[in-house]
Amino acid sequence: MNKEKVTTATIRKKKAEGTPITMLTAYDFPMAKIVDEAGIDVILVGDSLGNVVLGYDSTIPVTMDEMIHHVKAVCRGAGRAMVVADMPFLSYQASEEEALRNAGRFLKEAGAQAVKLEGGQEVANAVRKIVDAGIPVVGHLGLTPQSIHRLGGFKVQGKDETVAKKMIADAKALEEAGAFAIVLECVPVHLAKLITGSLSAAVISIGAGPYCDGQVLVINDILGLYPRFTPKFVKQYANLHGQIADAIKQYMEEVGARSFPAPEHCFGMPDEVLAKLY
Ligand code: KIV
Repeated sequence: MNKEKVTTATIRKKKAEGTPITMLTAYDFPMAKIVDEAGIDVILVGDSLGNVVLGYDSTIPVTMDEMIHHVKAVCRGAGRAMVVADMPFLSYQASEEEALRNAGRFLKEAGAQAVKLEGGQEVANAVRKIVDAGIPVVGHLGLTPQSIHRLGGFKVQGKDETVAKKMIADAKALEEAGAFAIVLECVPVHLAKLITGSLSAAVISIGAGPYCDGQVLVINDILGLYPRFTPKFVKQYANLHGQIADAIKQYMEEVGARSFPAPEHCFGMPDEVLAKLY
């Protein structure tokens, strides 16, 4: 495996060569280490943190400080992979200055190499400001969970002409503003294909089909660690929730039966010392 750090140049090269880009989320040190050592290109510390780790109902309550805490842990575990930090709701929408300040915190305080934010033309100036300061930006279009109340629920985006045309214009605006990659979430396969073919920025699919430049999924979903809800676009590669539950039941049974701890889990002491204690 190539051990060289993944950079924006690596991503551009992969797009140019037609080599699929692999991206997964991670939220802590041990998972980042496993994902990195497996050879993933990009680790996204998504604001899905709110749903799958912090137990919120949506990504909306996630704060900058919560994100920074987790991005730091992920950066300590990541070696080769590029770490992208997700900008939480209201950390970039109020002003371009605030967007830059918050994006900068992810690099300065947490050690990330890039940031991601949701939206198209309406965030293009913020993207330009962040990129001009030297911070690589990933855009996010389609089903953007921070706008879930405006979108009216978790639905495929771009099935009708107006929304599809706006998404194409948004993707172009993000690219022109300097985004090196764009995540497309829950988008019809052929619209995603069209957008991918029209951009030099890399397009990463989550529920946008196989014709994009790469794929991203939430790690808890592919490992079967998040039983609340599994979207149609997720493929579950393991059932760790079930395995963890079984391990916990077995531990409880063994504690109940006093078969754990066994002698090999215990510490001894010299007999003469013990004798003096009685
Ligand atoms: O927050 C997240 O994990 C994301 C991915 C779903 C792309 O934005």
